[in-house]
Amino acid sequence: MKLEIDQRRLNSELETLATFSDAEPPTVTRIVFTPTDLKARAWVISRCEEAGLAVRQDAIGNIFARWNGADPTAPAVGTGSHIDAIPNAGKYDGVVGVLGGLEAIRALQRNGFRPKSSIDLLVFATEEPTRFGIGCLGSRLLSGTFSAETATKFKDRDGESVDEVRKRAGFSGKLGDVKLPKGYYKAFVELHIEQGPLLEQAKTSLGIVKNIAAPASLRIAIEGAGGHAGGVLMPNRKDALCAAAELILAVENAARSSGAVDTVATVGVCDVFPGAVNSIPSRVKMTVDLRDTELARRDGVMKAIERAAQHISAKRHVSIQPELLNADAPADCAPEVRGALAESCRKHGFSFLEMVSRAYHDSLFISRIAPTGMLFIPCRNGYSHRPDEYAAPEDIGRGALVLAESLAKLSS
Ligand code: GLV
Ligand code: MN
Ligand code: MN
Repeated sequence: MKLEIDQRRLNSELETLATFSDAEPPTVTRIVFTPTDLKARAWVISRCEEAGLAVRQDAIGNIFARWNGADPTAPAVGTGSHIDAIPNAGKYDGVVGVLGGLEAIRALQRNGFRPKSSIDLLVFATEEPTRFGIGCLGSRLLSGTFSAETATKFKDRDGESVDEVRKRAGFSGKLGDVKLPKGYYKAFVELHIEQGPLLEQAKTSLGIVKNIAAPASLRIAIEGAGGHAGGVLMPNRKDALCAAAELILAVENAARSSGAVDTVATVGVCDVFPGAVNSIPSRVKMTVDLRDTELARRDGVMKAIERAAQHISAKRHVSIQPELLNADAPADCAPEVRGALAESCRKHGFSFLEMVSRAYHDSLFISRIAPTGMLFIPCRNGYSHRPDEYAAPEDIGRGALVLAESLAKLSS
């Protein structure tokens, strides 16, 4: 099979999708279920329909664009990623797996290939945790990792629940119906930028993911006492932000002391109330994002953070309430999917590294119900989740080609 990726078209589609943004170019901000995100989704659906794919959407907004196989009763093969983007993001995270997956399907169609199993291009809803504080809601529901009840407990900053927001965006079915039966997919492959520097440093074309690190996150509410910045003397203060500052450093220290480079922890949100120059902060809401390739080590670091919170609370006479939002197990990628990716790389003489995904992806959850693999493309300086995120068109083209051949193999 000699496949050709239309790199120019793929690149121009990546540029077009980046124009659906609530920030000035080149920055992309596309928070799930905002008017901008809904317009971007409609544009992607129109591209899929133009390719002759049959599109359906489920109750949480996952999009399935199906290329029907010769045997429509056989389990399908899936590919895809997400198009929602965090504030101040770039053009490639998630999007490469969606538009690259679409181009892989079109390349197979142009070649006259006919899959035996149907091939689904998925656009997972709400992969980024920006809006609801939890990532991968779409794939968590698809895989049954979250029940409908658990998913609807999450609210956005305005206090609107997942259920309210998704219904207003036009998704009114039952969340309980989102879950896919085991065996629905015989294989799933996600193309994604690496979001780290290793491929570029090793001057290697592609990465085949061996395993995906285990993410966990906490929301922490700190309550102290407010008051006048001039009137309340230092010995009498219960400053919630000072407690948060100590806790943030304790989080950093807990991750650094784990003894492994694979342990990473981040406090990315810290909301201070009332947020006035001359008022002592009385409340802080902060988040902790913690990841590791080893579950036991990650859980040990989580315990250390909880102990630090208790200690700081007692010492500073403030209340610190941690709420565990998620603590997921890691995933191993499936040998048959890794094998198909490696075979295609070898055929074309593309060098590849077998690597860990330290970022989480919808593949982490799809791996609970289907043999799953991931293919990484290098990104400049390893930059991601920032406006200067960049992947070269040739690298994206190589990724789409290997993806296409792997989909052909897995769907035959
Ligand atoms: C996904 O966006 C992640 O934060 O790993
Ligand atoms: Mn991301
Ligand atoms: Mn992503």
